[in-house]
Amino acid sequence: MQNIISILTAANQELEKNRIEASNLECQILLSYILGVSKEYLIINANEELDDKKINQFQSLIKRRLDGESISNIIGKREFYGREFIVNCNVLDPRSDTELIIDIIKEHYAKDDDFSLIDLGTGSGCIISTLLLEFPNSSGIGSDISENALSIAQVNAKKYFIDHRASFVLSDWLDAINFNKFDIIVANPPYILSKELETLPLEVLNNDPLIALDGGIDGLTHYKKIVSNLQKKSNDETKFLIMEINEDMAKELFQLLTCVGFERENINLYDDLSSKKRVISCKF
Ligand SMILES: C[S@@+](CC[C@H](N)C(=O)[O-])C[C@H]1O[C@@H](n2cnc3c(N)ncnc32)[C@H](O)[C@@H]1O
Repeated sequence: MQNIISILTAANQELEKNRIEASNLECQILLSYILGVSKEYLIINANEELDDKKINQFQSLIKRRLDGESISNIIGKREFYGREFIVNCNVLDPRSDTELIIDIIKEHYAKDDDFSLIDLGTGSGCIISTLLLEFPNSSGIGSDISENALSIAQVNAKKYFIDHRASFVLSDWLDAINFNKFDIIVANPPYILSKELETLPLEVLNNDPLIALDGGIDGLTHYKKIVSNLQKKSNDETKFLIMEINEDMAKELFQLLTCVGFERENINLYDDLSSKKRVISCKF
């Protein structure tokens, strides 16, 4: 029998040795998962002794983590905008950078607004579900080219009881969609250059699906397809396109949008917490 604090300390040292960042937090997440308790419980009950069965279960999760599996894949969930989303190997782990999209839409729309939105490349559905939860009168569609991802997005919409306001459609970007029906178009397309995929950390390569990462030869393949589907709308319409980007592509994407007819003054770039251009938006 060992107590919580000694088990956590030993596991933390293992993870640290293997250069796993946030090792302390990760150990706490895994032990709370095994015990079915909160992280706070572990701190308050640091001297509680655990039986061998629980210790072995915890150690087998630590081993999976050391073998390169992500925390989200091990426990099957990941936090986004303060809520837990179910994830698996078919969807991108929601990233905190993507939360900026939610903040920007909250700056543009009031809580009671009843808009319709489409979340292109919905993956786990973290964006559409969060927006429908933050805006209780809104409704929307999540689309993706991956049926497996759509199944997870549906599970998440059900989990948060917003499935009556959300539907999910299999589509290659806007091919199967009439985009005129939407006030807001959101997308977080894959944007890693194909040639850079092999330089990604193993944890990303082993856990996130390639289809969610591969942005093609210049990282812009998917943006070009989305943008080429969009037609410029008159300025008095309040339609809004908002996409996550990689800073390196910001200039080119800005140009791409102006080339298809968006006015420069209607295009905005937003910085993430590390002052990198992370989101582009434009009004139609
Ligand atoms: C970077 S992930 C974003 C997932 C989720 N929206 C998020 O922000 O966590 C990109 C998503 O686009 C989807 N995707 C890739 N190619 C696509 C295509 N041609 N048409 C529609 N979706 C596509 C992937 O399956 C993946 O779910």
